[in-house]
Amino acid sequence: MENRPQWGTRAGFVLAAVGSAVGLGNIWRFPAVAYENGGGAFFLPYLFALLTAGIPLLILEFTLGHKYRGSSPLTFARLKRGSEWLGWWQIAISFVIATYYAAIIAWAMSYSVFSFNTAWGKDTEGFLFGKYLNLAEAPGEIGGVVPGVFIPIVLVWMITLGVLVKGVKKGIEAANKFMLPTLVVLFTIIVIRAITLDGAVQGLEAFFKPDWSQIMNAKVWVAAYGQIFFSLSIGFAIMITYSSYLPKKTDITNNAFITGFANSGFELLAGIGVFAALGFMAAQKGVAVDEVVSSGVGLAFVVFPQIINEFPALNGFFGFAFFVCLVLAGLTSLISIVETFVAGVQEKFNISRTKSVLVGGGAAAVISILFATRGGLYFLDAADYFINQFGITLAGLVEVLLVAWVLRELKTLQSHADAISDMRLGAWWRICLSVITPIVLGYMMVQNVITNIKENYGGYPTGFIIYSGWLVAAIALIAGFVFVGIKWKKDVTVVPESKEVSQ
Ligand code: ALA
Repeated sequence: MENRPQWGTRAGFVLAAVGSAVGLGNIWRFPAVAYENGGGAFFLPYLFALLTAGIPLLILEFTLGHKYRGSSPLTFARLKRGSEWLGWWQIAISFVIATYYAAIIAWAMSYSVFSFNTAWGKDTEGFLFGKYLNLAEAPGEIGGVVPGVFIPIVLVWMITLGVLVKGVKKGIEAANKFMLPTLVVLFTIIVIRAITLDGAVQGLEAFFKPDWSQIMNAKVWVAAYGQIFFSLSIGFAIMITYSSYLPKKTDITNNAFITGFANSGFELLAGIGVFAALGFMAAQKGVAVDEVVSSGVGLAFVVFPQIINEFPALNGFFGFAFFVCLVLAGLTSLISIVETFVAGVQEKFNISRTKSVLVGGGAAAVISILFATRGGLYFLDAADYFINQFGITLAGLVEVLLVAWVLRELKTLQSHADAISDMRLGAWWRICLSVITPIVLGYMMVQNVITNIKENYGGYPTGFIIYSGWLVAAIALIAGFVFVGIKWKKDVTVVPESKEVSQ
C-alpha cells in the first residue's frame, strides 16, 4: 500500500478546497464581471454555469483524484496511459498562473502597509502606476526590478513554500484552518460597514438591477463560464491534486456541493461589499455608480484606495482589513496552485517533498520576478488573459471531451462517486458533462479565437501579444508533451489496489 499523505479531517479538506476556490477572482473579478454582463440578469447564466459545469466538473475532478490518488499527470496516466499529457498541461497552466498571482498578492501586501497612513494620497492612479509600480513606458520593456514589489514577492514565496514544505496536513490544512476563517470574519466586517455607508443602496441597486436585454448575448454566457472555471479552481489540476489526499471513506458529491456553494456565496458577498462601497464613493463625488466601476487592478488598487480616503472614520483600519483580505484570499489559492506542480514533480522524479517544493516552487518564484520589474504589469495582464482564455477553459473542455467521449469513463466514475457519497448522481451529471458543457465551452473557444484574431487584446502591439500572450498559452501545452516524454523514475502508473472501492 502506498504511503500517501492525507487530510486530517473532512473539514480540513473542505476548508482547503474552499480556500483554493475563494481567491483574487472572487473579490476583484466577480463584481465587475457581473456588473458588465447584465447586473442582476447575470445571475441566471452564472447559476446555469455553476450547476451545469462548475459543480459537475468539481465532482468529476474530486472523483478522479480520489479514485486514482495521484497528482493530475499521475491521475490521468492511471486513468489511461496516453492521457498523462493533459495532467502536465494543466500543471503548466497552474505554473504560469502562480508566477503572476504571487505578484498581485505582493502588491496587496504593500498596500496593506500603505493603508496605515493612506500613503497613496489623493491621486491613487498616479501613485499606483508611477510611484509604486514605476511602470515602464511601453509594453515589452523590462526596465529593471522594482524593490517595492520585489521584497513582498519574496515574502509571498517564503510563506507559500514554507507552508508547502510542511506537507498536506501540517502545512496546507493548518494554513487554511487559520487563514480562511480569518478572511471570512474580516471580510464580513468590511461588508457590514460598506452596506451601512451613505449611497450604498444606490450601489446595490446598480449591481442587482437586471438588464434582461443582455441575456441573449453570447458574451454574457461566455463570461459566466469563464468566471466559474477560474473561481472554482477547475481545469487546472488543483482539485484533482487536493482530492487525491482524501481518505478512502469520504463523501465526494456532498463535498463538491459545499465547495461550489461556499465559493459562490463568498462571491456574492464580495459583489455586495464592493458595490455598496462604490455606491458610497459615487455619492461622495456626486456622480452615477457606473462612472466609478472598474475591475481587476483598477478596482483593487486605484478605486479602493479612493474609497478608503473618503471613509468617515477608521480609514487606516478598513484599508488594512481590505488588503489583508486580498492577501489571505490570494495565499490560500496560491498554495493550491503551487501544490499541483509540487505533487506532479515529486511523483514523476520520485524525490522528497522538500526537494520538489524547492525545485518546482523555486522555479516559479524565480520566474515571478519578471512581474516585479517595471514592465511587469503589461506582462501580467497579457499572461492572465491568455492563460485564462486558452489555458484553463480549453483544458477544461479537453478534459470533459476526453473523459466523456474518448475514454467513455463517466459511468464508471459515477459508480465510484455513488459508492461513497450520500447523494447519488443521476443522468443529469453525465448529460451536463458530455453534452451541455462541451457545447457551451466549444462555442466559447471558437468565439474567443475569432475575437482575438480580429483584434489584439487590450490594444497591445501584435509582437507583444504574440510572445506574452499566445506563446505563453502555447508553451503551457507544449510543456505538457515534453514532460510526458520524461520517464517515471519509479513507475507508479498502475492503479493502487487499496483504493478500489467495492460496490
Ligand atoms: N480560484 C482562485 C481565484 O478565484 C484561483 O482566484
